[in-house]
Amino acid sequence: CGIVGILSKEPVAEQLLDALKRLEYRGYDSAGIATLEDGVLARRRAQGKLRNLERVVEEHPLHGHTGIGHTRWATHGKPTEGNAHPHMTDDVAVVHNGIIENFRELKSELQADGAIFDSDTDTEVIAHLIARELKAGNDPVRSVFHTLQKLEGAFALAIIFRGFEDLMIVARQGSPLAIGLGTGEMYVGSDAIALAPFTDRVVYLEDGDWAVLTREGLAIRDREGKAVQRPVSQSHAQALLVDKGNHRHFMAKEIHEQPEVVGHTLASLVRFDTDEIELPELPFDFAEIPRLTISACGTAYYAGLVAKYWFERWARLPVEVDIASELRYRDAVLDEGGVSLFISQSGETADTLATLRHCREHGQKIISVVNVTESSIARESDLVLPTLAGPEIGVASTKAFTAQLTVLACLAIAAGKARGVIDEAREKELVGALNEVPRHMATLLRDEVPYEEIGHALSKADDVLYLGRGQNFPLAMEGALKLKEISYIHAEGYAAGELKHGPIALIDEKMPVIVIAPRDGLFDKTVSNMQEVAARGGQIILISDAESGEAGCALDGLLHVPPVDPFVAPLVYAIPIQLIAYHTATLMGTDVDQPRNLAKSVTVE
Ligand code: G6P
Repeated sequence: CGIVGILSKEPVAEQLLDALKRLEYRGYDSAGIATLEDGVLARRRAQGKLRNLERVVEEHPLHGHTGIGHTRWATHGKPTEGNAHPHMTDDVAVVHNGIIENFRELKSELQADGAIFDSDTDTEVIAHLIARELKAGNDPVRSVFHTLQKLEGAFALAIIFRGFEDLMIVARQGSPLAIGLGTGEMYVGSDAIALAPFTDRVVYLEDGDWAVLTREGLAIRDREGKAVQRPVSQSHAQALLVDKGNHRHFMAKEIHEQPEVVGHTLASLVRFDTDEIELPELPFDFAEIPRLTISACGTAYYAGLVAKYWFERWARLPVEVDIASELRYRDAVLDEGGVSLFISQSGETADTLATLRHCREHGQKIISVVNVTESSIARESDLVLPTLAGPEIGVASTKAFTAQLTVLACLAIAAGKARGVIDEAREKELVGALNEVPRHMATLLRDEVPYEEIGHALSKADDVLYLGRGQNFPLAMEGALKLKEISYIHAEGYAAGELKHGPIALIDEKMPVIVIAPRDGLFDKTVSNMQEVAARGGQIILISDAESGEAGCALDGLLHVPPVDPFVAPLVYAIPIQLIAYHTATLMGTDVDQPRNLAKSVTVE
């Protein structure tokens, strides 16, 4: 889905359509534009591909010089023309990416106030909220500022107003947005790719920023309404399919995309009106299978290990997880009619693909969780559950991992329901916890200073140990893998309880030990393990929602995470472990996006 906006002295409809075409790669199922026709808002919308919208615009042209456009990928409400953006009242038109989490409360409040809604979308509440502010006598800027303070969730917005030819207001909170500076013209797009034909001078808004645009200038304000400056950068979008935004590395950009990616992936699997998991038809019945066999490589393998805890806990389904290259060659027992699940970002990893074929030869049904839906693994599967992470460029996987976890969590809930282990109330509770993940991720991404500090300490270490228990044990291994991959520091992930059976011999004053320990049912056990480390002089860095007093020993660092439902902890705690690796590596000056010896997609066995 994508947003565009143009303030010009010429008619903009055609340029809006061009810019939308450049955002097509993101996927969408309806589209629309709105312009100011002699001060009056007019819109054209169409279901399906952009050419449908082009046809509508040809038949009913728009001549305005100020306009916004949108390609919509349905989240709240079906992909109909009526749900397509822009959403508007007589006074204001809005395009929106992301999800307004509190739209139900806002909608009932507005309806009680007399507002009539034309769509099922969450976006329409924004138009009505702004319209109400305008009616109360506020100017557009104040009306938007008041409205933004009421919105919870992740969003990028572009807004135009009746009677204001030279004005557009945009906002960014968790969903990307770029402003393109023209000569006497101003452009807005979800990314620089959309703006490439018009300008290469781009300003990226920071999270919480909103900006008032005219043809000649822009004024950016932060969440509190304070004026802020953001640098103008030279975009290379014309040369690249994707660019780094205002990040130093693709990896940083991809880490920051996670609130949006998880929200997007979740929205593809959850019915927004009932909070029920809605999957495509499965080629088997979860109630009837004795076991699930998962295989994958690298980071995707760790996603599979987390999923094992979820399937066993919430669906009472026995799960085997294998490194793909191991399952393939270890004469595994694969009962006829069994189900094998493969996880892969690229969908081309040779070990995973070979194992898939091996499993198929042994009569297994094949489902896969992949990011590239045109890939070999996707094509050779009976069912594909796509992760909607978008192109992942950084070799060390980040957003694909949390998108994989999101799909797997939904699949585990579906399995639990099919097997009669969880009821509707429990399903709602678990989905509710998943729905909150993007917000928690965004909170964590707001302040990276603590990670830079830990990075300084780790950059001097030769070896680092990561500890976790239960479903956070695989996360300890993923944390160690991230650090190894991009900083080249030797790191190992261990089950916290296993420390005393060997790795404790490594502990001395030089050894940093990173402990992933949410305050869940296993927290006290992990505290005991931390004390074992402390007693031997190890440096302890705790990642937790607990306070330092609860650790029972002196800490060398505490990375504070908001309290979350234990079910979703692996998703939320993925952010700190990624940031630790990223900041350590950037301090050490390694090639973060293309670390030595590694490839993004390994197509050899
Ligand atoms: C390579 C990458 C890893 C990735 C693994 C599996 O080794 O460097 O980051 O986790 O392959 O890749 P896949 O595309 O199958 O998820």
